[in-house]
Amino acid sequence: MSSQPYTAGLHQSSTQSHRQAAPKRPLPQTGVNELAKRALIGGTPNTPNGGATPNQANFEIDVKQQLLNYQKLFDQSLYPYINDVSAYEKLSKIGQGTFGEVFKARCKTTGRMVALKKILMENEKEGFPITALREVKMLEQLKHQNITDLIEVCSAKSNSATTKDRTTFYLVFAFCEHDLAGLLSNPKVRMSLVHIKTMMKHLITGLNKLHRSRILHRDMKAANVLISREGVLKLADFGLARPFVHRDTSGAPRPLYTNRVVTLWYRPPELLLGDRQYSTKIDVWGAGCIMAEMWTRQPIMQGDTEQKQLQLISALCGSINTQVWPNCEKMPLWNAMSQEPNSALPQGKARVLKHKMRALMKFDNVPESKQATDEDAMNLLEVLLAIDPDKRPSADEAEDDNWFFKEPTPRPNVGDLMDTIPTSQFEYTVGKGAHAGRGRHHNQQRPGHPAPRQQVSNAIPAGQYRDTIF
Ligand SMILES: Nc1ncnc2c1ncn2[C@@H]1O[C@H](COP(=O)(O)OP(=O)(O)O)[C@@H](O)[C@H]1O
Ligand SMILES: [Mg+2]
Repeated sequence: MSSQPYTAGLHQSSTQSHRQAAPKRPLPQTGVNELAKRALIGGTPNTPNGGATPNQANFEIDVKQQLLNYQKLFDQSLYPYINDVSAYEKLSKIGQGTFGEVFKARCKTTGRMVALKKILMENEKEGFPITALREVKMLEQLKHQNITDLIEVCSAKSNSATTKDRTTFYLVFAFCEHDLAGLLSNPKVRMSLVHIKTMMKHLITGLNKLHRSRILHRDMKAANVLISREGVLKLADFGLARPFVHRDTSGAPRPLYTNRVVTLWYRPPELLLGDRQYSTKIDVWGAGCIMAEMWTRQPIMQGDTEQKQLQLISALCGSINTQVWPNCEKMPLWNAMSQEPNSALPQGKARVLKHKMRALMKFDNVPESKQATDEDAMNLLEVLLAIDPDKRPSADEAEDDNWFFKEPTPRPNVGDLMDTIPTSQFEYTVGKGAHAGRGRHHNQQRPGHPAPRQQVSNAIPAGQYRDTIF
């Protein structure tokens, strides 16, 4: 048997027409008789013996035949329970991440737009990669309006001579018109306070759902935040996500997680200091970086090494020491990072976040005399970007923050903002604009010096970053 079928039951809640009406079940883990019974009774055009009528007298014979048929299909890698990707017409490539390409595509039967995320199979000798299966299993649990909507998993058989007999899999998502990185880098997109507040509310609500489901995202960044045509924000890219164990549920030793997570520019101090028992608060730091970026229109701390990233954090959020974070000296890399010369943990640095942000919290289309700092926004940003993870609010607490209850209160969506952006502008190819291929590791230092701040909008030309914002 060359491969096992995909075993996550994505189709159970299928109500939408793009999904096939007939239940497409993976090969059940249950006993042979149960399997045969399902194949016979629930026989559909998708099953090897589609539409067969149960016949008690021949039951045992049919069981054998069914199993033989299954065996044959799997040997041929036909994956009878997964739609073939030819059900979708590929339109353009919209992303190139570390783990695969993303295409915009149209469902041939319903016309619905989707994003096809190709799963890289290079290191897979057999079957569906475990990392992708984890992503799928988590997304199944995470049905929420602020989380990317996984529709199904598709397969495609390779025709090329080199990869013959290899199956490629695609995750099929509901298509979103924009990603936040692209939106923010487009100077034509003018956002008002209520747009920013609404998007932040969606982001925090999605994160809260994630954390309540006991899942860490571990790659929060603007490129992994999508906005639908209707103006609803969705957290996306669960390629690095993992379930977590609650710290205080038992006396059992806490598991150690991998430390190599989160794109450098969005990585919190505890990860940079080697923590492997981190919590949901790593994602909260990412939410803080994204919130600030709503105004700066580019990542706020663009280090090119872990040391430089810590220095940038100290320069903006103040020195990292036991006064602000009592346990910081227990971090695995504390001593290594403190080494002189050019310590990654410079002391004597003041926290200037509020001061710097006040200067940047300008709104497009609002005259200078009418610009006023939103102190509630500042206060939320302050806590999201607290150096001590324990001082950051949980997503649940952040959702109830004062800011969200002050005028202007968040709206159900930012559809009006979407209406100001001609769709054609976002039919970009990789490397330009909304769906530019900002990979997971787009954190190399960019050449050149910081550009002067623009008068009208903070947005910078698509696809470019200034050296550092602060
Ligand atoms: N559902 C979607 N709709 C539109 N674009 C998407 C969708 N999912 C992903 N993309 C685009 O593809 C890019 C890469 O996808 P992502 O899931 O982040 O994978 P990777 O692990 O490769 O970064 C995203 O930054 C976004 O621009
Ligand atoms: Mg991504």
